[in-house]
Amino acid sequence: MIGIFDSGVGGLSVFREIRKVLPDQKYIYYSDNAHCPYGEKSQEYIISRAKSITDFLISQGAEVIVVACNTATAAAISTLRAGYSIPFIGMEPAVKPAALSTKTGTIGVLATAGTLKGSKYLNTRDRFSDGVKVAEHIGKGFVELVENGIFTGEEAEATVKASLAPLLETGADTIVLGCTHYPFLLESMKKVAASVSPDRNVSFIDPAPAVAQHLIDVMDQYGIRHSDDTDRQAVALYASGKSDTLDKLFEAL
Ligand code: DGL
Repeated sequence: MIGIFDSGVGGLSVFREIRKVLPDQKYIYYSDNAHCPYGEKSQEYIISRAKSITDFLISQGAEVIVVACNTATAAAISTLRAGYSIPFIGMEPAVKPAALSTKTGTIGVLATAGTLKGSKYLNTRDRFSDGVKVAEHIGKGFVELVENGIFTGEEAEATVKASLAPLLETGADTIVLGCTHYPFLLESMKKVAASVSPDRNVSFIDPAPAVAQHLIDVMDQYGIRHSDDTDRQAVALYASGKSDTLDKLFEAL
């Protein structure tokens, strides 16, 4: 069984990609929305949440855990790997593919405060951004929008514009989505990009497909990719708070 968790519904953007390549596994998804957002919380707080959720997922049968949250990956994945014997898959900021595909020589990274100041992101940025300018911005209010089930429309576009426009104004043509909630705002982001930078083809990079491929490799390595589950595609959803958006978004995936 594959365990997946996030501070909220954002991890469903990762689950969506995982399910495409591993359709007949069992899943358990945990949204920690009673404690969302994680973005500005302390590392200690996030580690403690990540441990409680991990204990719960393991108690339900999880054999591998996908930390489908960039902020929790940055804050807690090394502690989790040191404290448990099952494998953990984290989110990777997609700086490398962005740096390889930019035509303007400037990429933009949208993420939470916690992710942008974490050593994982800073090391990746320094390693792969050779010769490329990297502009960063917090996606202010993005997580709250998605948790409230608002993905498109005036409010979504205004919120997206406030954080995306400053990146586009630096000349960025490739935007790294460094938070798993952000792919749900893609339509609004594309609209904003078309109006702020009509002269440029702006692309958005979501690391979830690469994370899904990595999960397959790790499951094969540990021999935990089951091909004989009788109860195929079973997905159990849990939320520490209200589950309306989780249920709705899951249905619409
Ligand atoms: N989905 C989380 C991430 O990837 C959201 C962060 C938050 O709760 O602020 O960073």
